[in-house]
Amino acid sequence: MRVTLSVIKADIGGWVGHSAIHPALEESARASLAVAQQNGQIIDYYVTSCGDDLQLILTHTLGVDNDQIHRLAWDTFATGTQVAKQLKLYGAGQDLLTDAFSGNVKGQGPGVAEMEFEERTSEPILIFMADKTSAGSWNLPLFKMFVDPFNTAGLIISPSLHQGFRFEVHDIREHKKIFFDTPEEMYDLLMFIGTPSRFTVKHVFSRFDGTIAAVSSTERLSLIAGKYVGKDDPVLIVRSQHQFPAVGEVLEPFRYPWIIEGWMRGSHYGPLMPVAQKHATPARFDGPPRVICLGFQLNEGKLVGPRDMFDDPSWDEARREANLLADHLRRHGPFEPHRLPLEEMEYTSLPQVMKKVEGRWEKL
Ligand code: F6R
Ligand code: MG
Ligand code: MG
Repeated sequence: MRVTLSVIKADIGGWVGHSAIHPALEESARASLAVAQQNGQIIDYYVTSCGDDLQLILTHTLGVDNDQIHRLAWDTFATGTQVAKQLKLYGAGQDLLTDAFSGNVKGQGPGVAEMEFEERTSEPILIFMADKTSAGSWNLPLFKMFVDPFNTAGLIISPSLHQGFRFEVHDIREHKKIFFDTPEEMYDLLMFIGTPSRFTVKHVFSRFDGTIAAVSSTERLSLIAGKYVGKDDPVLIVRSQHQFPAVGEVLEPFRYPWIIEGWMRGSHYGPLMPVAQKHATPARFDGPPRVICLGFQLNEGKLVGPRDMFDDPSWDEARREANLLADHLRRHGPFEPHRLPLEEMEYTSLPQVMKKVEGRWEKL
């Protein structure tokens, strides 16, 4: 059968501060989605959280960018916002940037990653969710998964991976997209995705059979709202096994706590720490940034799972290294390279400070 998997997320209020989601918000979301399932609008759903982001995982047959599904997500967040307001949770309704729903959640605040595909005989899916970071943070792990043979043995060993993958890259400032075929064009690809604040990998496709392998959310809240309104806290869906990297090859890039932007006030570089879902509760300096991964097998669109993939001792060293890197970066305080470079601050708080001291600059 053809199935659509939609992961739609929003920060609609934090508990405590920006550190986690209150159970009442998850309950509210489950109640909304249970009704949609009874009505036959969706096949299945799973509600979870990563830090202060409420995550809706939905399966259905309506395709991507479907206005019924987006409305369902929007209404679920709007209902949850009422609960958040009643509990006086922090930043209630933060990511619902407009008062009314316009037919698609894109550009309205929530993050979304969706893919439609023919469900295989067996369909292992990995869903990554991050908090305190931004849309381009998947660039490096996606490159490792789909291009680097030191990470993905299948690129050499498996005939169905040997032909490589096609990357769709978005320029989120100029609103343009481009495709690169790997491995031949990997150097061109790296030229762009090495700047994750501007270029983000949106989709990856198999060159063996053209099917979709991965999709990420690429919304940048600061570009949408024109000021700092919280980090994007992106999500990523990856199909696994057979013509795609094995589960272990998809997870392997997260062994290293890559330095990404986000953390405190969305204005610092820090390590991305892989954690179990129960530990996706940024505490130190509002961080360090977290990534969780839930694995599911699809069964006629039903979500069989989840398995909490980073809830395993093999990730302990990654976490330890992340904490050591966090210590080192923290000592820089307000200095680069811990704080984001000036160009990035221009999209957030720099303009206000610039304005304040405007008339005081003297010629050298
Ligand atoms: C970063 C984040 C937090 C907040 C910080 C200040 O993504 O969510 O680090 O930026 O706690 O929050 P406000 O401005 O809401 O007081
Ligand atoms: Mg928040
Ligand atoms: Mg968040």
